[in-house]
Amino acid sequence: MPLRDSIATPDGKRRYVRVLFATIADRYDFITVALSYGQDRRWKRRLVDLASPRAGARALDLATGTGDIAFALAARGANVVGLDVTHRMIELAQSKVAPGFQPRDRGPTRAALRFVVGDMLALPFPDASFDIVTTGYGLRNVPDLTLAIREIHRVLKPGGQMLSLDFNRPSNGLVRAVYLMYLNTVGATLGWMLHRDPDTYRYIPASIRQYPGAAAVVRLLEEQGLSGARYYPVLGGLMAIHRAVRT
Ligand SMILES: C[S@@+](CC[C@H](N)C(=O)[O-])C[C@H]1O[C@@H](n2cnc3c(N)ncnc32)[C@H](O)[C@@H]1O
Repeated sequence: MPLRDSIATPDGKRRYVRVLFATIADRYDFITVALSYGQDRRWKRRLVDLASPRAGARALDLATGTGDIAFALAARGANVVGLDVTHRMIELAQSKVAPGFQPRDRGPTRAALRFVVGDMLALPFPDASFDIVTTGYGLRNVPDLTLAIREIHRVLKPGGQMLSLDFNRPSNGLVRAVYLMYLNTVGATLGWMLHRDPDTYRYIPASIRQYPGAAAVVRLLEEQGLSGARYYPVLGGLMAIHRAVRT
């Protein structure tokens, strides 16, 4: 079945995404660096700077993958849970936690970091339990964006903030066409080289085609009760970091 058809329905996308990330998990760190020309770390640092966690803040990193954002939040003194639906991603994240890991110990609360397998569309946490919810390349991958935002809103404490880094869907048709063509070509080449399957990383442009784009995500965040929603353009607007607060 063509990739576009495989992810055309919520159920199809859920199935496709689960197989995809289980397949690429062991190469994920390499791929992230290769596809972003090493810029991804900088973008994630910017997200964590915007989050500016206080020591002891309770943070949840959704679609945590191998844990980059979770580790960065913990290094700033937050108590972090990283959650991902792919068991292998969580194993890899967990393997980076040194025994007795203590990212930074300031103030009365000792920073802690743990990883759990779970679905960001049905979070295994009570209402109002986190000061910060982050996600890197998470919102674009879920089969139901509104439900994902509703869950983020539910688990945030009043005054808590959400931040999300993701690709944007440029509104300019020409920019979008060139951008997607570029990602398609690079994705197909990497997919063939690493997995003998050109579709593996063509999923990125395919999912961007389905994605409503940064401005529409701001509207969705506001509709779901998050306030002050805005996005910070990254890489000239080809990527975006969203930030919003639960009132
Ligand atoms: C592109 S990776 C991002 C990993 C990490 N956040 C980063 O920025 O490097 C997307 C992650 O989303 C996870 N994912 C996809 N659907 C999910 C869901 N419904 N719930 C939780 N995680 C999900 C995948 O398993 C994968 O690890």
